[in-house]
Amino acid sequence: MYRTHTCGELNLKDAGKEVTLCGWVQRSRNLGGMTFTDLRDRYGITQLVFDMEGDSRLCTEARNLGREYVISVNGKVRERSNKNPNLPTGEIEIEAVSLSVLNPSELPPFTIEDETDGGEELRMKYRYLDLRREPLKNNLLLRHKMASEIRSYLSSMEFIEVETPVLIKSTPEGARDYIVPSRINPGEFYALPQSPQMFKQLLMVSGYDRYFQIVKCFRDEDLRADRQPEFTQVDCEMSFVNQDDVLKTFEGLTKHLFMQVKGVAFNGPFPRIPYSEAMESYGTDKPDIRFGMKIREMTDIVKGGGFAVFEDAAYTGGICVRGGASFTRKQIDLLTDFVKKPQIGAKGMVYARFNEDGSFKSSVDKFFSAGQISDWMDYFDAREGDLLLILAGDREATLKALCELRLKAGDDLGLRKEGEFAPLWVVDFPLLEWDDETERFYAMHHPFTSPKNEDIELLDKEPARVRANAYDLVINGVEIGGGSVRIHDSSLQKKMFEVLGFTENEARDQFGFFIDAFRYGAPPHGGVAFGFDRWVALFGGSESIRDYIAFPKNNAGRDVMINTPSPVSPAQLKELKMRIIDEE
Ligand code: AMO
Repeated sequence: MYRTHTCGELNLKDAGKEVTLCGWVQRSRNLGGMTFTDLRDRYGITQLVFDMEGDSRLCTEARNLGREYVISVNGKVRERSNKNPNLPTGEIEIEAVSLSVLNPSELPPFTIEDETDGGEELRMKYRYLDLRREPLKNNLLLRHKMASEIRSYLSSMEFIEVETPVLIKSTPEGARDYIVPSRINPGEFYALPQSPQMFKQLLMVSGYDRYFQIVKCFRDEDLRADRQPEFTQVDCEMSFVNQDDVLKTFEGLTKHLFMQVKGVAFNGPFPRIPYSEAMESYGTDKPDIRFGMKIREMTDIVKGGGFAVFEDAAYTGGICVRGGASFTRKQIDLLTDFVKKPQIGAKGMVYARFNEDGSFKSSVDKFFSAGQISDWMDYFDAREGDLLLILAGDREATLKALCELRLKAGDDLGLRKEGEFAPLWVVDFPLLEWDDETERFYAMHHPFTSPKNEDIELLDKEPARVRANAYDLVINGVEIGGGSVRIHDSSLQKKMFEVLGFTENEARDQFGFFIDAFRYGAPPHGGVAFGFDRWVALFGGSESIRDYIAFPKNNAGRDVMINTPSPVSPAQLKELKMRIIDEE
């Protein structure tokens, strides 16, 4: 045995014990005739003392230890005179008797401390060193804890974990696929799965009525803080269920995780908000409901005042900022600049202030009387001290801008509190989404999502109005998961492919195996997939999922540590019968 204990477990009760510890040298300090060395491993830090008076050769060896040397030390546990209350091992130290260097280390390119001097790019390149740091280590421990809680909860509910293939078939729906050439089938390609969707449905056909998998998924999309090209889903499916059964089951999982990992309990069921209401009241299908400040449409009540912006707008809407009347002119200007940023896209912002003395002041006083502004205030249930912020323009774009404005105002007022969690289900998503460019409908979720029974008759006449049995779990404005009750009836699936513009041959070509399987007794089924990285990041209190993935890609989709993507050799290309075409 290299070690008798870890660097995180010894305390006063162990005083007098002879121990052997192994780990990395965090730092050393020479004080008089003594050298104090912090020894670190995954479990913590323990102070070692080398005393010149005891064994000067040993002490000289200790002085020569560099940062990140891997050492083994034998010695006796003793009470420390200068205790460190911030360390679990802070009451003791090890009086070293012998030392062996298991491996020296080059000077690391950045300090391995909680607050490091290394920039992001450098730390990504030396990710294995960055992972030695406490904050990242804690992130991976959190991830592990959540994965094991998920496995134990779902297993206790009779879900079984089944692996599905990673080399699958490219399909035209969804995001872009990553494709993999096949050497033994030249000119043919596998695709990496964007999710195990069809496989989990086939497992239902096979009779495994409760499936889950913590599984890697791959999507070639533009990257953001909450998007990685390869990410992990907690993928789940169940048979003989309706939407309510699925939501209740996974609300159970969600509450279990909150309790076990965050110690947070929720009373009663999570709110369920229809998609249409989420869009109207929050301007998004992933609302942050930690705070109110709901959007209200004002299109009709602001018409007729002669203010061209409102007269011409297809949509006018606003939010009421409680206590916002105290915003200074400068603060309002900053909010106006914010909504005018290209990524928000508003042309301008109108404000109306409900002063503490009961009077009103607005940026459109020229067009509207105090009585009219007072009506607006009533409409928003505004009180003295409140502020209305109003945007106008195209319906969709303005709602989107109002969503951003609401979040910004929420941030500015400290209403999006860290450590507070507000989960909800967004339900009744539209089944289809029209795309102007290709002039066809796309499945908003995927082509296997079932329409609401009562809306099936609209499939021919008004497809855009058909609602789906589809739902998302949203927490604090983050889409944590999404799923649906599936179509299990072949004729309805056929109809769906038709609406999506597939000819019978195209549908067969892409999904033939799936269509066939459903002819052999597919049970009613439904499921959900959670974005595991996002969930861990949410619990960890960060927006970037990268910090919770051991070896992530950067924003350009590169792994700068292993330096990939990278060219392959001409021999490999030849074997694959492939040629790179120069864009020039
Ligand atoms: P969906 O496409 O909504 O559903 O994905 C499920 C969840 O996965 C997370 N997610 C991502 N996380 C990180 N990086 C990405 N690039 C990324 N893309 C998605 C989100 C999302 O809510 N098969 C269906 C589920 C089902 O119907 O059961 C599916 O994949 O948190």
